[in-house]
Amino acid sequence: MTWTAPPGSRTRHGWNTPVTAPGPENREMLKRFREIQHNPLNFLLQTWQLHGDVVQFPIPRPASYLVSSPQGARDVLVNNHRAMSKRTIQYSTLSLVTGEGLLTADTETWKTSRRQLAPAFHHEMISLATNHVATALNRLDQNWAELTSEGSALIDVDQTMMNLALEITGATLFGSDLTGQVDQLTSATLRALHGVVVRARNPLPVPLAIPTPNNLGMRKAIRELDTAVNAIIDRRLADPLPPGAPIRDMLDVLMDQTLEQPLSRKQIRYEVATFIVAGHETIASALTWAWYLLGSNPEEAQRLQVHPERAALVFDETLRLYPPAWVITRRTLESVEVEGFLIPADALVIVSPWVVHRNERVWPNPELFIPDRFANGAPMLGYLPFGAGPRLCIGRDMARLQGAQILSHISQNWQLSPIHNQQVPVDASVTLRPQGGLPMRLTRIKD
Ligand code: HEM
Repeated sequence: MTWTAPPGSRTRHGWNTPVTAPGPENREMLKRFREIQHNPLNFLLQTWQLHGDVVQFPIPRPASYLVSSPQGARDVLVNNHRAMSKRTIQYSTLSLVTGEGLLTADTETWKTSRRQLAPAFHHEMISLATNHVATALNRLDQNWAELTSEGSALIDVDQTMMNLALEITGATLFGSDLTGQVDQLTSATLRALHGVVVRARNPLPVPLAIPTPNNLGMRKAIRELDTAVNAIIDRRLADPLPPGAPIRDMLDVLMDQTLEQPLSRKQIRYEVATFIVAGHETIASALTWAWYLLGSNPEEAQRLQVHPERAALVFDETLRLYPPAWVITRRTLESVEVEGFLIPADALVIVSPWVVHRNERVWPNPELFIPDRFANGAPMLGYLPFGAGPRLCIGRDMARLQGAQILSHISQNWQLSPIHNQQVPVDASVTLRPQGGLPMRLTRIKD
């Protein structure tokens, strides 16, 4: 049985879109406008707490819903996945940078790409990536040794984890032999992504063709991105993988001519940008919050130092409290029923891991950082930092291994201590980042 709007509320928003679930009124939305802009995480959490597991916002087109129960999230991403598309503002904005790559693509081509690109995340690639992580950590140790030669040092953990993750993503994608071009490419991708963020903050995005400073910057960055990828592809074409030789990096998979449907140059460019965008800031964000949480829970930091194998639990619990992908959006292709509520066709459906991960029924004392929650693995319902269903993150295993490897290595050698005990505000943008960075005090652990 589906929910029926109370009499009179059918037209409560003053428009024709049917009201099929409870939710805030126009007035409440207007009152909270600033919060929606500046603290969307809190807005989403409170919307769930005030109005329930399936909420309809007073937005006429598209009809917009927030689904927050563990079962509801699963219904959207897994059970009804055939009725859902990725044609949402979130993904169309992102595709300005990534094109129709694996993350944003929504057609039959996605299925072929997902199958063809799977080897880029197989076991051999993960172990190659482990070597790149070790190399990057080595370099970090050297930098930090210099910084702390006179004692402790103040560092921005957010910036450090971003650089570390970027170095690893570059090496995993292109091997270690292309450093100059890779720098150019990653810098162009990040500038383009920044343009996307600025755009997404503007309630009335201006078409890309209009020469605002942001659009000009973005167009320039995208041109540079194209040029850099083309140069990298040309170099690789001149040095192709000998038949039967083991793959060296992800680019070898993307350029594999023996694939059933070899990727075009354009597709390679889309996937390269996708892997950079999807792969580096997510891991960096999770690591940054892990250091923040360990800094605020010194007993857990201590346990990690003694038992480095606990890094996997710490990483999983960090992803629960600070899921880098804090909203996952879908557009319904047909009407679906979720938790007894009818969601019509062509509606926007938002699932927020930030909210789902704070459900007391699955996570007692949800705000507390308790890595041991994951001692027996993750629950089937109520945990989706990597999404769920067929669009589950293709980089999940790689990300979890790298995250644990980095946390365990650093915690063996270094101590990162908070410089104050105030809560750090979260900037919810492409991922979750600490507002104003995360300064922490770095000291070497004596043997
Ligand atoms: C902690 C790190 C990461 C987090 C939290 C994360 C999160 C996610 C989430 C939530 C999705 C699903 C989005 C949706 O259903 O709409 C996703 C998809 C995806 N992620 Fe990740 N991700 C991480 C690391 C990575 C890495 C390292 C890569 C690649 C180098 C990657 C590449 C992708 C791609 C290509 C997709 C789209 C998959 C598809 O639709 O077939 N991610 N990720």
